[in-house]
Amino acid sequence: MNVLAIETSCDETSASIVANGIKVKSIIVSSQARIHAKFFGVVPELASRAHIENINFVVSQVLRTSRITFDSFSRKVDAIAFTRGPGLVGALLIGAIAAKSLAIIYKKPLIPVNHLEGHIYSSFIENKFIKHPFLSLIISGGHTELILVKDFGKYKMLGRTRDDAVGEAFDKAAKMLGLSYPGGPIIDKRAEKGNPEAIRFTRPYLKGSWDFSFSGIKTALLNYLKINPIKDEKHLNDVCASFRQAVSETLCFKSFTAAKEFRLKRIVLGGGVSANYLIRKMFLKISRENKMKVFIPSPVYCTDNAAMVGCVAYLKYLKCGLVYSNAQLTSNPSLNLEDWQYNYT
Ligand code: KG4
Ligand code: ZN
Repeated sequence: MNVLAIETSCDETSASIVANGIKVKSIIVSSQARIHAKFFGVVPELASRAHIENINFVVSQVLRTSRITFDSFSRKVDAIAFTRGPGLVGALLIGAIAAKSLAIIYKKPLIPVNHLEGHIYSSFIENKFIKHPFLSLIISGGHTELILVKDFGKYKMLGRTRDDAVGEAFDKAAKMLGLSYPGGPIIDKRAEKGNPEAIRFTRPYLKGSWDFSFSGIKTALLNYLKINPIKDEKHLNDVCASFRQAVSETLCFKSFTAAKEFRLKRIVLGGGVSANYLIRKMFLKISRENKMKVFIPSPVYCTDNAAMVGCVAYLKYLKCGLVYSNAQLTSNPSLNLEDWQYNYT
């Protein structure tokens, strides 16, 4: 089954052709990072406008890469998937309208996808179908969520951030350090050259809860910089390395403690921050020591992309078929994971 998938929930316009949920025939991701850089964050109105400008190009490019012409579309594409939510309302609507227009023209079924399910299942693309149950950690610019995934569509939200998402904390820290946006990858690169033990930033473990809080580390950095302004490149790299160390240890501690508590042998990462070198290294090392398995997507599938939408669309097709009500096909900026109706008996 070939799915044309479209993702426009935030600041990436992406389209992909995915066969049977895991074979990515082509993928195009057009990032708006440059547009939002001068504001140090995503500006919703600018994101919507950029999606309008990009969507036709991205979709036609992905079709061309897969050698799908307007004549062969009907034969080569079986369904069209799009991100229904959560995300920025204007941004979501552009992807939904593009998908719905193509579905009407070519008489194809539509599959609505939850963006968070996309991040949860993005690891499936390179690892065939990972066995349930597993612990999912979604770490991105908008989300920090720890989820017990019992089966496809059966989720228990264990914890989430009480303040900043982890990617947001990286981006705000970068701004404090005079670095550009998005700050996560820049801090990550500099941290590779710094000493992670130079400064001891707080580790907010929030004992007794699976929630996260990153505003404390951010404030600790702000207070540190007031007394110790950055004096040279080495100092800057040391601060980046120490900040990254504190964030990575916090994520690892929470995730492995939760996995042990719920007797889960598999941890699956997703979201832009899972591209971080140290987070990847730490999760893989600790999982080996504990005889557990950790799955982390390649960087292209960590950040927002349409292939993960195509993957989930196929899993939904297997579980629920291809018929959705108008309400289920309506964009919802605050869609919850639990909002989906799966037919479990
Ligand atoms: O998943 P994503 O593309 O978009 C959202 O759904 O938010 O994630 C973007 C976030 C940004 O905050 C960015 O700074 C962060 O992911 N990020 C990183 C790295 N690469 C991207 N954070 C830390 N280290 C990285 N290597
Ligand atoms: Zn995302």
